[in-house]
Amino acid sequence: MAYFPGLEGVVVKETEICHIDLENSKIYYRGYDLEELAERSTFEETAYLLLYGKLPTRGGLEQFKAVLRGNRAPPQHVTAVLQHLPKSAEPIDVLRTGVSAMAHGEDLRDRSPEAELARGVRIMAAMPYIVAAWHRIRTGQQPLSPDADSHAEYFLKALRGSDVSPLEARAMDVMLIIYAEHSMNNSAFTAVTVASTLSDMYAAVTAAIASLKGPLHGGANVDAALMIEEIGDEGNVEKWVDAALAAGRRIPGFGHRLYKRGPDPRLRVLRRLAKELAYAKGDTKYYAIAQRLEEYVTAKLAAKGIYPNTDLYAAVIFKYLGLPVDINLPTFAISRVAGWVAHVVEYRRKNRLIRPTEKYTGPIGLKYVPIEER
Ligand code: ACO
Repeated sequence: MAYFPGLEGVVVKETEICHIDLENSKIYYRGYDLEELAERSTFEETAYLLLYGKLPTRGGLEQFKAVLRGNRAPPQHVTAVLQHLPKSAEPIDVLRTGVSAMAHGEDLRDRSPEAELARGVRIMAAMPYIVAAWHRIRTGQQPLSPDADSHAEYFLKALRGSDVSPLEARAMDVMLIIYAEHSMNNSAFTAVTVASTLSDMYAAVTAAIASLKGPLHGGANVDAALMIEEIGDEGNVEKWVDAALAAGRRIPGFGHRLYKRGPDPRLRVLRRLAKELAYAKGDTKYYAIAQRLEEYVTAKLAAKGIYPNTDLYAAVIFKYLGLPVDINLPTFAISRVAGWVAHVVEYRRKNRLIRPTEKYTGPIGLKYVPIEER
């Protein structure tokens, strides 16, 4: 039996959702170039594309947006649960609890791909509210569910309780498009693995959020932000990086299982967006630190196949959008849920229980010794 540590290079499913062209440094969602989607589409349109397999008509998009709007506030017991949590709880953990709690009270017997897709859309609709409501509750404010045209604008307004500029809404929208899907990453695989037992969408998304939390995956967008804050000035980059590497630490926002021969293609969009926000806000400090990090770490580690990943500039963009650092991570989930749901539904149409095996390396035939004699 072949053994692939970390399942590297193992193909677990066929897909029509996402294609990563490493040769040409391109990512396609359902055949569409992600860079073009980031420039011309919206999160709602991109999510529709991922979930339903084609770009919506105008009417289809309006209907989808209306479903999202109608499901922004989750069932009332979810807010009640949030209100009882310790204020120190991490936002990503609260989101995991909130999505899990959404399942309670719903009849989950219909596990058809269509029923699961409808659940997935309801989860997607409610995630911005859950994250924003938690931030407001933990800071002693009332949760809000403001009027807003887009998912991105709604999230920022619900979080801050104040108006959002068109540039900020668009920047968040681009982030939601860019983060929405990325093939069989750990959290998508987790969602599919859970769903392959014929468990339900709430369970699959809850598990995917748990996976995303780890610092080797989505958690890197928090660590990258903390690193940039700690560095504080572009002049400190080299000293900081040298000390981190000498201590055997990994640099957050760098390295990727797939991109060993060049940077993540999404970097082109994110670098541009970070720069635009930096100049619009009249504060280029964080952008300059990220740029210097990119140059210095790449010069040091490219020979080992380590290049910047999305989380480096995502951290800068979220900083310019004024997100509290620990909100970076659930913001990733608010977007990536589109990919998780699409993968679960695709897999369930031709479901086969995921059940790998392992190679036993321990002893056999040991003699049982009664506890008094050990
Ligand atoms: N900084 C310094 N060294 C690194 C880094 C890094 N960020 N990433 C990998 N390396 C080193 C490893 O220590 C290892 O060195 P060694 O051969 O001397 O032991 C070598 O590069 C290969 O590393 P692997 O762990 O085999 O690479 P893998 O493909 O398994 O890891 C991963 C990919 C987990 C993303 C890794 O690069 C990492 O930990 N990065 C930092 C965290 C991060 O940014 N995660 C976000 C990933 S993207 C996302 O999920 C959204």
